[in-house]
Amino acid sequence: MASINKEKLHESTMALLGHLNGLSTAIAIQHGVELGLFDALSQGGPASSGELADRTGLSERWVREWLHLQAAAGVVEHENAHRFSLAPESALLLVDESTPASMVGMFATLSALIDGFEHLPEAMRTGLGQPYDGHGDAGANAIERGTAPWIPVMIDEALPALEGVVGKLEAGGHAADIGCGSGARTLAMAQAFPNSTWTGYDTSQHAIARSQAKLADAPSTTNLSFKNPLQEPVPSDGSLDFVSFCDVLHDATRPDQLLEIARKAVKPDGTVLVIDIAQAPALVDKLTHPAAPLFYGFSLTFCMSSSAATKDGAALGTLGLDAPKLQELAGAAGFTRVRQMEVEDPFNAYYELRP
Ligand SMILES: C[S@@+](CC[C@H](N)C(=O)[O-])C[C@H]1O[C@@H](n2cnc3c(N)ncnc32)[C@H](O)[C@@H]1O
Repeated sequence: MASINKEKLHESTMALLGHLNGLSTAIAIQHGVELGLFDALSQGGPASSGELADRTGLSERWVREWLHLQAAAGVVEHENAHRFSLAPESALLLVDESTPASMVGMFATLSALIDGFEHLPEAMRTGLGQPYDGHGDAGANAIERGTAPWIPVMIDEALPALEGVVGKLEAGGHAADIGCGSGARTLAMAQAFPNSTWTGYDTSQHAIARSQAKLADAPSTTNLSFKNPLQEPVPSDGSLDFVSFCDVLHDATRPDQLLEIARKAVKPDGTVLVIDIAQAPALVDKLTHPAAPLFYGFSLTFCMSSSAATKDGAALGTLGLDAPKLQELAGAAGFTRVRQMEVEDPFNAYYELRP
């Protein structure tokens, strides 16, 4: 047996313990968000376990144990383990879901992530992943909440940074959002440009069902419809001014075919926006991404899994669509210009594709 360096053994033990601590803390955080514990701690100010239990209507003994976990992990602050508080910075991350800083959506993906890992042994043996619908409605919900914080960045920064797109949409252009998921982004774009006409396309029945429900809740939005492209394909007659792929291509079995579909759909002066994970092209650098272990977890359960759901799947995965790969795919699909845009978003990269 190789000789054991005691210091390194200690370091490795602590690192592994850190991963287990992280898992336990993360799951408890997610439940705390859903149960309104962080919200109550932030709104009502510092509290004992009894006060927080009263504020939330939950059981004191269980709230106390949950607070102890959060205090041990450093998520909440405490005075002599008796009164607990949430710093405003932590509240920004864990309470208000509507800001780009919010991490609530990421925690909301945890259950689906954990469920997704159930499929891993089979996928490892067969090489085949799970299509999006394999995650059920919970998967569509998790993705919706995970990507929601970036919608304002897309509307307020990315669309105006595309050459001529806002003008066309304001004047009544035709647009498609391919891989629209639950339709939150598509709805936001359709509402931001009420003179334009939008279609959201998704092959997931759970995603389409969610998007239809969302549309039914917004009866004044009459410029948007949602379709399954397997039943009603994206037009291939060059009639669209704008097509978007938001967090789609690295998940898709055939990103090459999706880009070809977009190329045929847009007018000669049309535009395609691709939003995908921001990352370095070199694998060794991808491994240093601050969220790399989480992203590879998403990849094994969602992104690479869905992209490898068919035998001919590209299996790109969460960190698999970097700028050079997109250039290659876009060029092969017939786009002559690919520009990586400057948009302030630490997680996503934005690309403008033109015929
Ligand atoms: C990570 S989700 C992103 C959803 C949404 N765009 C968002 O930003 O929240 C990727 C979506 O792409 C859809 N998708 C994958 N391949 C597709 C295809 N070939 N045609 C249409 N949708 C597809 C999946 O069903 C899934 O809903």
